[in-house]
Amino acid sequence: MEAKRICEGKVLTRKKNQDPPIVALLCNLWGRVVAAILWPFHILGMKLVFCQMRSAIGISKAGISGGGSLPLHIDKFFEAIGVKLQNGYGLTETSPVVACRRPDNIVLGTVGYPLNFTEIMIVDLETGRPLPDGSKGIVKVRGPQVMNGYYKNESATGEAIDEDGWFNSGDIGWIVPKHSTGMSRQCGGMLVLEGRAKDTIVLSTGENVEPSGLEEAVMRSNLIQHILVVGQDQRRLGALIVPNRDELLLAAKNRLLINDENSELSKDKMISLLHEEVRNRTKDCSFHIGPITIVDEPFTVENGLMTPTMKVRRDKVIDLYKVEIANLFK
Ligand SMILES: *[C@@H]1O[C@H](CO)[C@@H](O)[C@H](O)[C@H]1NC(C)=O
Ligand SMILES: *[C@@H]1O[C@H](CO)[C@@H](O)[C@H](O)[C@H]1NC(C)=O
Ligand SMILES: *[C@@H]1O[C@H](CO)[C@@H](O)[C@H](O)[C@H]1NC(C)=O
Repeated sequence: MEAKRICEGKVLTRKKNQDPPIVALLCNLWGRVVAAILWPFHILGMKLVFCQMRSAIGISKAGISGGGSLPLHIDKFFEAIGVKLQNGYGLTETSPVVACRRPDNIVLGTVGYPLNFTEIMIVDLETGRPLPDGSKGIVKVRGPQVMNGYYKNESATGEAIDEDGWFNSGDIGWIVPKHSTGMSRQCGGMLVLEGRAKDTIVLSTGENVEPSGLEEAVMRSNLIQHILVVGQDQRRLGALIVPNRDELLLAAKNRLLINDENSELSKDKMISLLHEEVRNRTKDCSFHIGPITIVDEPFTVENGLMTPTMKVRRDKVIDLYKVEIANLFK
């Protein structure tokens, strides 16, 4: 699928400059050759495995997913088994769809093009000035689907919608730069989301970190149930982790860290195992997680640490574990 994406021009990029024509041509050629070689295996996989997965999950051709960006591994999974995932984005305030992938042009990692009659502008977090394609900032939306305002609440409305009718979504994102050739030629103008502005962690070095990418990468591990990346005003990032104790014990046994069936895994060993796992899972991320601490109680809807849509309530978790977080950075 990766080779196919290259020759179809559907490789997501933030680069403003496109590849020179010769490079574009060579990449295209390479993609074609690799895709052609692997195609029979893909067909075989489709017949033997992927078809059955599709009938097991009850989706035969296409699916719709809404609310925001999908973790890349989920996107890749559906692409591999041949389900076209039309991922879309919107908010209650935009009743609700703002952007959506079109069935004939699905680019992983994006939420597609803005709907017709809908404008999207990316503005700088601090200055509020519009940014060019490829630059990350706050996503603002204008269009007929944007609400008139919050019911009988002018102050809240004034904060969300400016005098020109631009609605501040509070989401961080960027627009894919337009390329006329090369492996990203089909992606120009699509919207990519990276997280919520209020979740952004500002380190004392002045760097802005979107925790969601790191958290998604770590959550792929079966040793970890939940992770919350923290570090506001600190020199580096840290994390609260709810481990999956059974899996952790198993991993420790496999690695001969403990030899006896019944022996307890010491906290230090747990931390070092989790550290290694976190490091492995985040090798490709642009930021790294420093100190970690173990939290025993899972985040659930019942204890108020998770929303009914299964999103971690950062503010609640940070408030509950403020002592542990402070100790993390001592
Ligand atoms: C929306 O825009 C697309 C592309 O410009 C066009 O093909 C389509 O007809 C438009 N749909 C409506 C309902 O205006
Ligand atoms: C208006 O909205 C703000 C922010 O959501 C809220 O704090 C305030 O109570 C609301 N005011 C009224 C009159 O509902
Ligand atoms: C991390 O990666 C190294 C090298 O690839 C490997 O030896 C190690 O077992 C991995 N650790 C974990 C916890 O997966």
